[in-house]
Amino acid sequence: MIMRVLGVSLMLLAVGAFSAAGQDATIKIDIERTIGAIDPMIYGGFIEHMGRCIYGGIYDPGNPLSDEDGFRKDTLQAVRDLQMPIIRWPGGNFSSGYHWMDGIGPREKRPARVELAWGSVESNQIGTDEYLAWCRKVGTEPYICVNLGTGSWEEARAWVEYCNRPKGTYYADLRVQNGHEEPYGVKYWGLGNEIDGPWQMGYKNAEDYSKFALEAAKLMKWMDNKIQLIASGSSHFGADWMEWNRTVLETLRDQIDFISLHTYVGSRGNYLEFMAQPVNVDRRIERTAALIEETRLRHNIQKPIYIAFDEYNVWHRANAQFEVPYVFEDALVVAGFLNSFVRHADSVKMANMAQVVNVLAPIHVEERGLYLHTIYFALQLFARHCHGNALDIFVKSPTFDAAGFKGVPYLDVSAAYDPAKKQLVIAAVNRHPEQALSTRIVNQTGALKDQAKVYELFHEDLKAANSFDGAPVQPVEKTTSCQADGLTYTFPPHSFSLIVAEVE
Ligand code: AHR
Repeated sequence: MIMRVLGVSLMLLAVGAFSAAGQDATIKIDIERTIGAIDPMIYGGFIEHMGRCIYGGIYDPGNPLSDEDGFRKDTLQAVRDLQMPIIRWPGGNFSSGYHWMDGIGPREKRPARVELAWGSVESNQIGTDEYLAWCRKVGTEPYICVNLGTGSWEEARAWVEYCNRPKGTYYADLRVQNGHEEPYGVKYWGLGNEIDGPWQMGYKNAEDYSKFALEAAKLMKWMDNKIQLIASGSSHFGADWMEWNRTVLETLRDQIDFISLHTYVGSRGNYLEFMAQPVNVDRRIERTAALIEETRLRHNIQKPIYIAFDEYNVWHRANAQFEVPYVFEDALVVAGFLNSFVRHADSVKMANMAQVVNVLAPIHVEERGLYLHTIYFALQLFARHCHGNALDIFVKSPTFDAAGFKGVPYLDVSAAYDPAKKQLVIAAVNRHPEQALSTRIVNQTGALKDQAKVYELFHEDLKAANSFDGAPVQPVEKTTSCQADGLTYTFPPHSFSLIVAEVE
């Protein structure tokens, strides 16, 4: 079955060693050896005015499944169940042509505009107040990305005034007029989107972007000095991607709290090449974290600057589809992204799955209802269980070479310990297409209780997909026995397992 899906050539790529008897892999864990606190914001999301994400996915007035404000109740519940602590809006590329004043005030007076990012028409029926109302219904923190493509400093500044200043000035009073007496206190603001890309409206080189963003940042912070700013970091990874980030950090260092990274990966039909893609996520994070440290050291900056990985997902661009029909193997790659974010919990303090509804999304919504794609469950398992401190673990696993990467471990692992709950979580993707990995997990500090829970995401067909006809890909809950000093666990081939053990 698997060979039919994968093709025989894959096995030639497998170069690591497997033991005929005994253990194939070892994980050594010490709950005292921490990397850093996991910020729950790494389980965030992103919604954009693109395709059927907002209109039809989130907002569907008149549909019996919608509430009194026109928001889809089933979508709201599915997003709540993902436990996303932060959701970015309004784009994406859309934000570089968006003028926020079009989206406030009486709906019947809002202009319909030609929308150039995705070649559509923006009705402006959903704007700032509606987005913020939706965030409140979800129970998530808003994160607004301002227009530094075709927008102005003044427009960015005024948006902060509208959202965050008490009444008594022009834009704050507009908010009050629109029915919102109290300031919203929006804390997270993005300084533009992917301005390093020629596809962006208002594309700039690193120097021009940085100078422009610096003035926007100053004015925005003068409106509200409690806001946190995210600079637009690298979104494509040509030879000079680090130069972009270096210039941005050098210029904006005193104003920003985060620099963003974006990465989409797709399958070109070769399973192991696809599975190896998260290696690039590790590399991009580590190189950007090094640049941040270099900048902080050179200028003796005391405050931290973190990475916001504010767009990531699987996107098979080859078929240019916005509504990706995600299959089982895509969930393994998404788990790989999340493993990487946890392993870099000291530098990645925000990550946003792009996107949340219909477009490149874990949730597929139609007029008649919704279903959850395979990738939904990878994110949900992390968001529900993987909290506390990320752990610096030792992993010995057989390896493979693919997509130009050498020595990629079949077993991709991250681990966390939550001292409040005394819970140890091990998240492991077995990337091997057909071999289970018998693994000794050694616990070096404290004693494990005798039973652990395992949440397993597995399907024998890598191309299995959920749809309105059924959800064959869903996590299954099991238990496994532990000894005080560890456990032996066999990770099924091409699977994602999340083990939750109690420590005494
Ligand atoms: O998420 C889809 C698009 O991908 C976003 O608009 C853009 O920022 C990225 O290139």
